[in-house]
Amino acid sequence: MSQTSNGTADGYLMIDEAAGLFRVNRKSFVDDAVLAAEQRRIFDRCWLYVGHESEIAKKGDFVTRNIAGRNLIFNRDRGGKVNVFYNTCTHRGAFVCREDQGNSRRFQCFYHGWVFSDEGDLVEVPGRDSYCAHFNEDGSSNLARVERLDAYRGLYFINFGDEPTSLEDYLGGAREYIDLVLDQAETGMEIVGGTQQYGVNANWKLMTENSIDGYHAATTHATYMDYLVNAGAIAQGGMGGGGGRQLGNGHAVIEYYSPWGRPVAQWVPPWGEEAKRDIEDIKARLRARFGDEKAERMATLSRNLLIFPNLVINDVMAITVRTFYPVSPGRMNVSAWALAPKEENAAFRERRLVSFLEFLGPGGLATPDDVEALEMCQRGYKNMEAVAWNDISKGMASEQSGTNDEIQMRAFWRQWNALMTAGEAAE
Ligand code: FES
Ligand SMILES: [Fe+2]
Repeated sequence: MSQTSNGTADGYLMIDEAAGLFRVNRKSFVDDAVLAAEQRRIFDRCWLYVGHESEIAKKGDFVTRNIAGRNLIFNRDRGGKVNVFYNTCTHRGAFVCREDQGNSRRFQCFYHGWVFSDEGDLVEVPGRDSYCAHFNEDGSSNLARVERLDAYRGLYFINFGDEPTSLEDYLGGAREYIDLVLDQAETGMEIVGGTQQYGVNANWKLMTENSIDGYHAATTHATYMDYLVNAGAIAQGGMGGGGGRQLGNGHAVIEYYSPWGRPVAQWVPPWGEEAKRDIEDIKARLRARFGDEKAERMATLSRNLLIFPNLVINDVMAITVRTFYPVSPGRMNVSAWALAPKEENAAFRERRLVSFLEFLGPGGLATPDDVEALEMCQRGYKNMEAVAWNDISKGMASEQSGTNDEIQMRAFWRQWNALMTAGEAAE
């Protein structure tokens, strides 16, 4: 290799533009020290997705989340304000909320019974008389909150760092693609009840790659493709078109014509004639709102969007919002939600949820195959002494990046490497 990204062959990346090679050191997937550094240099600095406004639509609604190792409460308080609190009692540390979701004006700690309001204030202390008169006058025993909380079109993000980059600037070029998804709804999007949660014995970055990997579809998902063909559920045009794009700040996307039915808005024969008229109607309304070209793109192209480092929005046969966090170098926890237009009729909602289960779900036709592939890669890294580098060179030779090329993964890795090496220098 004539050139490396940071000058040493034992760095994270080995890039040789002239030879069209891009390689990633496998230690990035297995090393405890790398994971610890990722926590500080990536998860503690980047904007991280916490949830959608529809999950806390009413005053008092809350969900609990585990984000980058922190246990959090995401809620809408009695005044309508959205908060993210650390789910830890200021007395001795116990969770103050032990539910996944609900509606409550107060959070009572189960250990000694301290009570916090939905605005985070400590409002009841059993045996208050035994404390000094000025106890908590300064509010230091109220629930601690994640101060940096911001939203883009109903998607809420938090940031554990103190850098000045706004969420809007951070999302940058990815906003165009978020809009292409969210604009499919006329009355707003909502998360449809329920979370898919599963663990995978693989490094979290393998899921990042996989979520925007067009190259593996024909082989890994041959069963699903056969199933679509056998069910006659193939749209005209088939797979292809579009391409991969880097969107800045490590965000990336692939966009492509896809063979499957899309609730907004691509018809396939098993849906029947009535659905065909509904799809035409949805497309006509998109054309009226956005013009022919953009409407066609929104309706007919699928898109897999990565928001660095670990938010994926897959706008395919359903819309999946997915995050994944490492528990160790070789293990991650995945959470996924279905996003849908509020105005969608019952038949389309059903088709969407069936797809969310049958293709995208942890027991569906795709995800188990992806999980198997990722776990096999992780096991392959046991041979790291002999084969130390992954290859991500596909498409380096061409000007135009196709959907099956790997420019989008290189975008992720370049940003990952930039943050990891800058952090190393700073530390
Ligand atoms: S730990 Fe919460 S009241 Fe004691
Ligand atoms: Fe896949």
